[in-house]
Amino acid sequence: MINSLQPSNTALNGICPYFTMFPLDFPLNILKRRAREGDVVLDPFCGRGTTNFAARLVGLRSLGVDSSPVAAAITASKLVTVSVEDVLDEARRILTEREAHHIPASEFWHWAFHSTVLDALCRFRGAFLEDCTTNARIALRGIVLGALHGPKQKTFPSYFSNQCPRTYAPKPAYATRFWQGRGLVPEPVDVLAVIERRAKRYYGASSDITGAVRLADSRDAKALQPEIPETRFDWVITSPPYYGMRTYIPDQWLRNWFVGGSEVVDYTNRDQVVHSSPDDFAANLRQVWRNAENVCAEDAKMVIRFGGITDRRADPLNLIKSSLSDSGWRITTIREAGSAAEGKRQADAFLRTKSKPMVEYDVWATRQ
Ligand SMILES: C[S@@+](CC[C@H](N)C(=O)[O-])C[C@H]1O[C@@H](n2cnc3c(N)ncnc32)[C@H](O)[C@@H]1O
Repeated sequence: MINSLQPSNTALNGICPYFTMFPLDFPLNILKRRAREGDVVLDPFCGRGTTNFAARLVGLRSLGVDSSPVAAAITASKLVTVSVEDVLDEARRILTEREAHHIPASEFWHWAFHSTVLDALCRFRGAFLEDCTTNARIALRGIVLGALHGPKQKTFPSYFSNQCPRTYAPKPAYATRFWQGRGLVPEPVDVLAVIERRAKRYYGASSDITGAVRLADSRDAKALQPEIPETRFDWVITSPPYYGMRTYIPDQWLRNWFVGGSEVVDYTNRDQVVHSSPDDFAANLRQVWRNAENVCAEDAKMVIRFGGITDRRADPLNLIKSSLSDSGWRITTIREAGSAAEGKRQADAFLRTKSKPMVEYDVWATRQ
């Protein structure tokens, strides 16, 4: 049991929205109640880094792995210590010293961002693609990702885009029609002012850096190797994609563009677990559980939050049980994670429609 939280700012966990994130309390409560000093935590599907951030809050080292460049960039931004001034200095430096290259020119982009804002975004993008290894740049990239698109606000704009959802990027043809039909033109947002407000919110407090993130495919055994070779992980706290949720990259295509992806919607889904059939899906997860087992301590525990979406006919509990068979892990407990109540389920954030809710489970396992 870990008694005290590091002095820190939990607002940083909200630096950028991400689909199907689990609530901070989920990994945090497990670690607060059950982890010991010095434990090391792994999340092989880290998404926006909730598990890593929870580990940081209780002063534990962690490794997060995700094959989405957006997820890896968001997670990285939660694992740096930096001052607000350093972030702002870096932003000013990039905006004054760099030229904007590769400015997308299609109609969508013309309507999505004011030309001065798009110019600034391209300067940042170019700078980060060249080098994003300093804490100031990692934090700044996370801030820009979080502010990239969202609702228009009149007095103090918080987002760079024309009217947009904040959690997912709209498809270009639909969005362009929407803006044109309503006469919504993009405003010349004060980019530095948005960055300053967000930097103060997210980086106003600091704590020790205790985590790392890796952009990699967790089905690959090398992906889960600890940063320090002799380390073994004591905890795996994770949530894999639910069966049928295959649109992490296309639904985040604007943020994916910002971290180096294409300026048109990318449907390739490379390095994501496959959803071609329940068996293939379970086999992919099994591979990840095996890889995790290889890098875990004898008495390690794994906690998996898993559920389903309603548009595919596959029972989530059978799927997760099947993925864990012959994986080196033995299921010890299965608990319902709270079902119908709004806001509790990860799938709600994804589906965007009123659908019949399905139960989510927390599955606990130990090494065999
Ligand atoms: C349910 S989300 C995890 C959300 C996370 N718990 C959070 O709070 O943000 C699943 C994640 O698995 C990632 N993913 C899918 N296939 C992967 C693979 N083969 N290797 C690593 N990550 C993968 C997706 O990119 C997505 O970010």
